Amino acid sequence: MGRAFVYVILGGGVAAGYAAHEFVKRGVSHGELCIISEEPVAPYERPALSKGYLLPEDPARLPAFHCCVGSNEERLTPKWYKENGIELVLGTRVKSADVRRKTLLTATGETITYKILIVATGARALKLEEFGVSGSDAESVCYLRDLADANRLVNVMQSSGGGNAVVIGGGYIGMECAASLVIGKINVTMVFPEAHCMARLFTPKIASFYEEFYRSKGVKFVKGTVLTSFDFDSNDKMTAVNLRDGTKLPADMVIVGIGIRPNTSLFEGQLTLEKGGIKVNGQMQSSNSSVYAVGDVATFPVKIFGETRRLEHVDSARKSARHAVAAIMEPEKTTEFDYLPFFYSRVFTLSWQFYGDSTGDVVHFGDFLGNSFGAYWVNKGHVVGSFLEGGTKEEYEAIAKITRLKPAIEDLSDLETQGLGFALTL
Ligand code: FDA
Ligand code: NAD
Repeated sequence: MGRAFVYVILGGGVAAGYAAHEFVKRGVSHGELCIISEEPVAPYERPALSKGYLLPEDPARLPAFHCCVGSNEERLTPKWYKENGIELVLGTRVKSADVRRKTLLTATGETITYKILIVATGARALKLEEFGVSGSDAESVCYLRDLADANRLVNVMQSSGGGNAVVIGGGYIGMECAASLVIGKINVTMVFPEAHCMARLFTPKIASFYEEFYRSKGVKFVKGTVLTSFDFDSNDKMTAVNLRDGTKLPADMVIVGIGIRPNTSLFEGQLTLEKGGIKVNGQMQSSNSSVYAVGDVATFPVKIFGETRRLEHVDSARKSARHAVAAIMEPEKTTEFDYLPFFYSRVFTLSWQFYGDSTGDVVHFGDFLGNSFGAYWVNKGHVVGSFLEGGTKEEYEAIAKITRLKPAIEDLSDLETQGLGFALTL
């Protein structure tokens, strides 16, 4: 049994949705494009799962957040795919790929042939078992990557109302889920191995602002240690977690956000991999010219920094997907992908944006007591990164612009004095 398409997108997440939108904008013909996804729903804006989806009142639910509403564009419902002649093969895992024969084999036994393949398989959440801890398959231990995880988490949150949650990991998932749990009136303790939250991006000064804010909402922090085991009662109900430093924390539920691994396994030994992802060029094309990779799974040249990176953020998934489709459909008109890394988060009433690279010296500015502050990163005498909490649209645009321009900085203390004004007046 088999079907053949000109274009196949493997994976049905954020990048797949934006790629499909771009294919239609550029005039793909009916019957030419197929999307195969393990998830049972059409591509959606994954960031909603740790924010609106977890709210106790008026939570976000599909079809409200199908792609591409996250960038204020058309909402691609299953009907949209049908009307545009795109084959959506949902609830179907691809179990092997053969890039020489240009075929994919699904878990249902179907062989799908392509002329051009876009790999958009994203990533999977790391499991505690990979760090030597057992028991994380228990009912009240939650991970968060897809809709099924989010539904499970919502159920566990509802049955833990007023109880105790332990959040493992001080990264994006940990911070965003902790906020949602507190809003849902669950007591939260965050546990992570580093000295402060969001250690991959935040400076100690920025982190201490957010930690103080979280404390004011009742969140407790246990830093510099990791979870080692769970305690269950005779009915298999979780009662506590044990930490390496000997602490025992009462727990009705646990959320784990300890990082991800890109889903590259189908292509190991077939495509060149780098930095954990599928290595692509400035057209998002892999070491096999018929295979492109986009989103979390792609390691691409970040021109502005002159090196390859694998990014795990939604803006990069959206733009790399659109770029790959442009390169596929109009190769002669499509220049190298020139992407400025952009990360953001929204928790409680707070909201921040970051552009560029967090390397070099840091210059903080603004009012750390009044929820309006930021930082510049200066490397080899140039601004390479900018962070802003509580900015307006114009202010965020200004820090994005300045980061792209990479202005030379002679005096760090002068930059500190000028603060946000430096970006606004450049
Ligand atoms: P994504 O993970 O979106 O999609 C991959 C798809 O491939 C999935 O549908 C999966 O089932 C499918 N798949 C994988 N293997 C398959 C196989 N063998 N066969 C069939 N299908 C297969 N970023 C940000 O910048 N701001 C934010 O606020 C957030 N918030 C956020 C919240 C949560 C809960 C998560 C998990 C992530 C975020 N992110 C984020 C990160 C952002 O969502 C992420 O970078 C993008 O979803 C990446 O898009 P991709 O399409 O590459 O992968
Ligand atoms: P992350 O990389 O942001 O954070 C991982 C955290 O795990 C680290 O900060 C560390 O505290 C912790 N950790 C590492 N090893 C540990 C261990 N053995 N025990 C306990 N803690 C440990 O990853 P994440 O928070 O799991 O997020 C998953 C993915 O989802 C990432 O790709 C992230 O970019 C994405 N995401 C992004 C956003 C956003 O951009 N706003 C929001 C949610 C999720």
